[in-house]
Order: sequence, then C-alpha cells, then structure tokens
Amino acid sequence: MLTVALCKGKLIEPTLSLFAKAGYGAARPAADSRRLLIPCPEIGMTFLIVRPTDVPTYVEHGAADLGIVGKDVLLEQDSDVYEPLDLGFGACRIAVAAFRGQAGRDRLSSKIRVATKYPKITERYFNQRGVPVEIIKLYGSIELAPIVGLADRIVDLVETGNTLKAHGLVEIECIARSTARLIVNRASLKLKHQAIAELIKNLRLACASTQGLSRGGPSKPVRAAGRKGKRTPT
Ligand code: PRP
Repeated sequence: MLTVALCKGKLIEPTLSLFAKAGYGAARPAADSRRLLIPCPEIGMTFLIVRPTDVPTYVEHGAADLGIVGKDVLLEQDSDVYEPLDLGFGACRIAVAAFRGQAGRDRLSSKIRVATKYPKITERYFNQRGVPVEIIKLYGSIELAPIVGLADRIVDLVETGNTLKAHGLVEIECIARSTARLIVNRASLKLKHQAIAELIKNLRLACASTQGLSRGGPSKPVRAAGRKGKRTPT
C-alpha cells in the first residue's frame, strides 16, 4: 500500500486526472468534503489531503511515501526528498512585482520592503543582486501589501497575471518557473521500490501522452539509490 500526500486546492483535480490516466482511478473527494484521508484499496493507495506547504514534510518524514506539490514549495523548503518527475501541470512563475511606474526605482541606499510567501527564495534573489531588503512574510493576498503601504515590492506566484493587473501591479522579473512535481521519500523508494517504480513509470507515460515529447521527453527511469534531495540520479 502506498500513501500519497496531495495538495488541497488547484492541483488536486489535475493530479487525480493524471492518476486516473495512469491507471490509478481513485475515489474523488467532493469539493466540500472535510475528509483528509481517503483509502483507495482498489488501487493500493491511501491519499492524504494536506496544505501545499506541508506536502514535503509528510514525505520527508515518511508519513507519506509520495507527494505531489508545486516546484515553488520545493524551492522554498529545500526538503530532503527525491523529485523524479515533472508532471507538467500547474504551470506558473515566481515573480517580483511592483506598482506600474515604480518598477525601476530600487532604493539602493535604503532597504526595499518586499512582501512574500517565499522568504527564502526572496532573500536568495535579492542577496545575489546585492540589494538590501526587509522581507515581510505574509500567508496570502500578497498583492494587497503595496496598496496599503506595507511593502515596496512583492514576490509571488503569477499564473494568468490577472491578480497583478487588477491591483495596478506589473511583473518586473521572473525568478523561477514552477510546475507540479512528484516527490518520493528516500526510504520508501528503497523499501517499496517495485510499486513506486511502477507508479513513476505509469505517471511518466501518462504525462508524455498528455504533453507530447516536444520539450525533450520525460525524465529517465528512477533508481533506488541517490544523494540527498533533488532529482533522482540517473
Ligand atoms: C495565487 C498567487 C496570486 C494569484 C496569481 O494566490 O498568490 O495571488 O494566485 O494568479 P493569477 O496570476 O492567475 O491572477 P491564491 O489564489 O493561491 O491565493 P492567496 O493570495 O491566498 O495565496
């Protein structure tokens, strides 16, 4: 039996669709369901429904064998998990944004105040550029911060750009691109290798048939051994 941590929110529907396409058709929780644990013995899996930022924690500690989570979360948390597969959906970017007209004004003599859900990514980005920043950690509605004078800049997810536009903000620079990733607990990859390797193979095939092979094709097959974190060595 495999335990799989799924993100609450936008990624859950495309994740379950991909699993169904890969041959793991699961009972779908109703949109208003409060169930956090969904046993699906017919496909040999139990799904856990958790917050996106908690998915790497469940997988790293072995409470889940596998998880599906955005690359944005992985970049922020630097968890000790394998990341064998880019699932392709949930595409968005982590970007710096500011009010239109103020995008070029970096006050290098004093700290820029940057509001974000991603303090580590933000700190790395501005440190690399030698720009002093004061990071203001928020948990949502980031676009509000410049409007009420809480911050000069934001670092946030941009998908369609509609939320930025609706608040008079413009994207200054893309820091990183994000899509949904499959992550795997290191010990589970060894102890449940056959089931996990089979799942990865089937998900990879389902991804390939969805996306085509136009961007260089899917990742190479997974192996049971590897160094800490990041992609499974091939
Ligand atoms: C995310 C993100 C932006 C918005 C971007 O917020 O933080 O606010 O989506 O999407 P768009 O470019 O398509 O407009 P989410 O909906 O997760 O809510 P949050 O503000 O509570 O984090």
